[in-house]
Amino acid sequence: MNKRPLIICTDPGIDDFIALCMLLNRPEFDILGIIALSGNVGLDVTVNNALVAAELCRRPEIPVYAGSARPLMRPARSAVNIHGPSGLGKSVELYSSLRPHEGCAADFIAHMAKKHRGSLELLSLGPLTDVALAVKAEPKIAPYFKNITVMGGGIHLGNATPWAEFNIVADPEAAAAVFSSGAPVTMVGLDATQPCVLPREVTRRLEADTPLGRAVPKMLNDYADTYKLVHNLEGMVIHDAICAVSLYHPEWFEWHSWYVWIDLTADEHLGQTRADETGESGHAPNCAVAVKADRDQVGACIVDSMELIVHELN
Ligand code: RIB
Ligand code: CA
Repeated sequence: MNKRPLIICTDPGIDDFIALCMLLNRPEFDILGIIALSGNVGLDVTVNNALVAAELCRRPEIPVYAGSARPLMRPARSAVNIHGPSGLGKSVELYSSLRPHEGCAADFIAHMAKKHRGSLELLSLGPLTDVALAVKAEPKIAPYFKNITVMGGGIHLGNATPWAEFNIVADPEAAAAVFSSGAPVTMVGLDATQPCVLPREVTRRLEADTPLGRAVPKMLNDYADTYKLVHNLEGMVIHDAICAVSLYHPEWFEWHSWYVWIDLTADEHLGQTRADETGESGHAPNCAVAVKADRDQVGACIVDSMELIVHELN
């Protein structure tokens, strides 16, 4: 089987961690590298957490790069209120014995886009800072990607602000650069992820006498606690894992092809992903937008996958 070359940009983060565990155990992907950047929490923490995921999933051979420590031109935002200072929940702290790979993350992205021209997939689960740096440095690589799948945005809703989703508004200039780069962008935003609420009870299926079987239930219970506290929601939305599922089950999502741009006006709409749903802008569509997900199929896929993973990896 020809494996699918994939780079993952991520800011773990509890939901990133789950997505990483799922993808690190999917046979169809040749994960060329993981780029951890500042987002939910600071760079040192996200790099460590990405290394922890690689180590506990027994994939120490996958290079983890330290990406950007801050957005292109704004102070870093944080989601420490959701993910805790450790990035993995208020009651979970894990440390990796692995070390990050030397080298510039943006250079790595550009190099792999040229090496795997036409077949490289990039999954962005955090701010788009490093992807933007790569396409800004070498604009010619934008069409080389098979796709850039972004967990981010929301055509009709936000979470970091009423209008903007965290990954986009954390670095709106970077998102604007990527969405306007000419790269084939796939957007899996809140329209698709927010309705996919998983009940806290699923964590019981993920308990096992293994390192992941001890840590994952705790981090997801902490995640559900913050969802109740911050969003007054019973349950949790594992956004990045839902987006990861779209890579190998796109049929479980409803897609529209629209022209999408990032609002950079300095007001409450900053970072809003705006879509031309009628074609009246005159711009050709630049983005496949997931407007809905099959909550039952996607939810079962996440829990079933993680149940296998936590039990198998002793
Ligand atoms: O809005 C949800 C997204 O922002 C997820 O990727 C979460 O990890 C945070 O990065
Ligand atoms: Ca994330």
